[in-house]
Amino acid sequence: MIRAVRLASLALALLLAGLWAVAWFGRAPGESLADAFLRRVAVLTGMDMPAPSAGGIQLAQGVVLGGPFTLTDHTGRAVTERDFAGRAVLLYFGYTYCPDVCPTELGTIAAALDAMGPAGERVTPVFVTIDPERDTQAALADYVSRFHPRMVGLTGTAEQIAQAARAYRVYYAKVRPRDLGDYLMDHSSFIYFVGPDGRVRSLFRPETTPEAIAAAVAAQLRAL
Ligand code: NI
Repeated sequence: MIRAVRLASLALALLLAGLWAVAWFGRAPGESLADAFLRRVAVLTGMDMPAPSAGGIQLAQGVVLGGPFTLTDHTGRAVTERDFAGRAVLLYFGYTYCPDVCPTELGTIAAALDAMGPAGERVTPVFVTIDPERDTQAALADYVSRFHPRMVGLTGTAEQIAQAARAYRVYYAKVRPRDLGDYLMDHSSFIYFVGPDGRVRSLFRPETTPEAIAAAVAAQLRAL
């Protein structure tokens, strides 16, 4: 029995290693290893990848991101995904104590909306904390106002945040550096473009420029 399990896990490890190797050697020019790997997995599992669009990562067909959540906004109002129905949203998960990445990405969202001109007014910027322990309603109100006058900050109980993060496949974990008293949060850092139906249309990697996001979002808005 144990031998069978060992053999099965060995076979799985070899399959994964093989996929990475095939992805490595079969990369298209300019394609990242991660994208090449996902493309191979998609082929293997029968999920077709749609043609890449301008900017952002295309989700493999059948991969649905987004879902129900119940949170509290920075004014203290209870909100769910239904409050955003019919509105296009640029969504980011992070925390106000983040020393670098979060402020950069939120600044990018604000700059992208500005770059879009009047069309940018159709998009609501939303920041969801993955550190509800420290990111109270008041802390969020102060924080989001620094980036954009229309930015919505969302917090909740640990369970509510976990539920929202699961819906968008957000990774986060508390890390405590040895030399510092305050903890940090390790977290995935994608900007999500969510359509009026609540479905994630595009993901933008960290360090995507505001211009690239503005162009991709404007194109999607025109197609809505
Ligand atoms: Ni961060």
